[in-house]
Amino acid sequence: MRRGAVLPGAMALLLSISASAQDLGQPHAIEGLRWVDAATGRIGVVVRPPQLLRDEIAGSRLSNLARLGALAFRQPAVLGGAARLAGLSCASCHPNGAANVEFFVPGLSDRPGNVDVTHSALGDLLANGRHDPVNIPSLRGVAQTAPYGRSGAVASLRAFARRAIVTEFEGDEPPPWLVDALVAYQNQLVLPRPGPAVAAPEILARGAAIFEIHCARCHIPSAAYQDGRRHDVGTGGVFDTPSLRGLAETAPYLHDGRAADLRDALSHGVSGLAPRAFTDLQAHVAGIGAVAAGETAITLAGEVAGLTADLELLAWAGRREFSAIGTFVATALRREAGLIHARLRKTSGEGPRDLLLGWSMAFRDIGQAFEAGDFIRARTLYPQLAGRLRRDAPRVVAAAPGSLYDPARLAPVRAPSDAEAQR
Ligand code: HEC
Ligand code: HEC
Repeated sequence: MRRGAVLPGAMALLLSISASAQDLGQPHAIEGLRWVDAATGRIGVVVRPPQLLRDEIAGSRLSNLARLGALAFRQPAVLGGAARLAGLSCASCHPNGAANVEFFVPGLSDRPGNVDVTHSALGDLLANGRHDPVNIPSLRGVAQTAPYGRSGAVASLRAFARRAIVTEFEGDEPPPWLVDALVAYQNQLVLPRPGPAVAAPEILARGAAIFEIHCARCHIPSAAYQDGRRHDVGTGGVFDTPSLRGLAETAPYLHDGRAADLRDALSHGVSGLAPRAFTDLQAHVAGIGAVAAGETAITLAGEVAGLTADLELLAWAGRREFSAIGTFVATALRREAGLIHARLRKTSGEGPRDLLLGWSMAFRDIGQAFEAGDFIRARTLYPQLAGRLRRDAPRVVAAAPGSLYDPARLAPVRAPSDAEAQR
C-alpha cells in the first residue's frame, strides 16, 4: 500500500470549473493515492506519511509559529490562481513534508511524483512554454540542504516560500508572519529513523570504499550527503546536488524523475565499474537512504484531535492581539472542520454533522471578532469554542464507522503507471 492523504472532495469539481485551469485534466492523486467510496464515488484517503517534527520527537512542545506553519502548509488560500481553485496546498505535493510520490495531474505530470511547475496553468510568471515536469522533492531534513530548487537557484527557505507562493502559484504577497511560520515549520521537518542495514557488512564496506572515491566529494557524508553546490553531471543541465538521505521513500530519482530506481540513478557518478563493484555501491547507497517505513492512518479521532490542538493558536493570537493571524487561523480551522464534515455520513436528527456545523459557525464568529480587532470578544469566544469541541468530540468520533474515514468503505485507486501516463 502506498501513501496518500485527504483529497478535499470538492477539489475535482473546483478544478473542472476553473477557467484558468481548463486545460488541465482530471487531477488524479492530489496528496497521494485516492481512496474512493465505490457506492458514491466520493473521495476519502486513509493514510499519509507521518508528521515528523524535531521538537515533538524530542518530547518538547512545538512552537506556536511552527504549528501555525503546519496549518498554513495545508491551506490552499496561501497559494493563488489555479492552484488555489484546485484546492492545492503545499501539503498536496509535500504531505507532512514528505514527497508525494503519487501526485499526478494530467497536463501537469508526465509520471506519478512529477509536476510541471513552470506550466502556464499554474501561473504566467514562470511559464516557459515547455512541458518539463520535475520530480517533487521531500522536505524532510530540508533545513540542512540549502540551496533550494532542483537548479539550486534559491538561497534560503524564506526566499523559496515566498517564491513558491508569489511566483510559482500566483498567490498574494504573503505577510512576514506567514513566511516566518512556513519556515519555522519546515525547519522542524526531520527524516524518519534510519532503516535497517540492507546487505552484509562486507558488501557495505566495499560499497563505502567505492563511494568514498567516486561520490563523496559531491555527496559529502558529514553534510547530509550533499555539498550545497550545482553541477552538470550529464543529466541535461546544472542541478543542485541532492541529499541521499531518505532515498527509500522518494523514487523516482533525478530532477525529472527519469531514474525509476537507485540502479538507474547511480550511472551519473561513475562509469565502467565492474558489475560486482556496482552492486556493492548500490547496496551502500541504499543503506544511506534507508528509512524505517511509516504511514499514519488518517482517522476521525486523529483529525478531531488535530483540530483541537490547533485551537491553541487562537488562544495565542488572542493573547498577543494578532488580528491577521487570528483571522487566518479561524478561517483555516473552519475549512478543516468543513473537510471533516464532508466525510461524515448523513444521519437523522442532531447528528455529528450538525455538531460540525456548530463548530464551523463558532470558528466563523471568532474569525469575525479577530478581523474586527475585537480581542475581548475573541478571548471570550475562545474558551466557549474549546469547551464545545471537548464536549462534542466523543459523539463526533463515534461516527467513524461507515463514514469516509472507514477503510472498510473505501477502495484504493492507483495513480496511472508511467506507461499509462505517457499514452
Ligand atoms: C504542485 C506541487 C507543489 C506545490 C503545491 C508546492 N511545491 Fe514545493 N516543490 C515542488 C516541486 C516540483 C519542487 C522542485 C521545484 C524546482 O526544482 O524548482 C519543489 C521544491 C520545493 C522546495 C525546495 C526543496 C529542495 O530541497 O530544493 C521547497 C523548500 C518547497 N518546495 C516548499 C514548498 C512550499 C512552502 C509550498 C507551499 C507554499 C510548496 N512547496 C508548494 C512541488 C510543489
Ligand atoms: C560532481 C558531483 C557529483 C558526483 C561526483 C556524484 N553525484 Fe550524485 N548527484 C549529483 C547531482 C548534481 C545530482 C542531481 C542530478 C539531477 O537531478 O539530474 C545527483 C543525483 C544523485 C542521485 C539521485 C538523488 C535523487 O534524490 O534524485 C543519487 C542516488 C546519486 N546522485 C548518487 C551518487 C553516487 C552513488 C555517486 C558516486 C558513484 C554520485 N552520485 C556522484 C552530483 C554528483
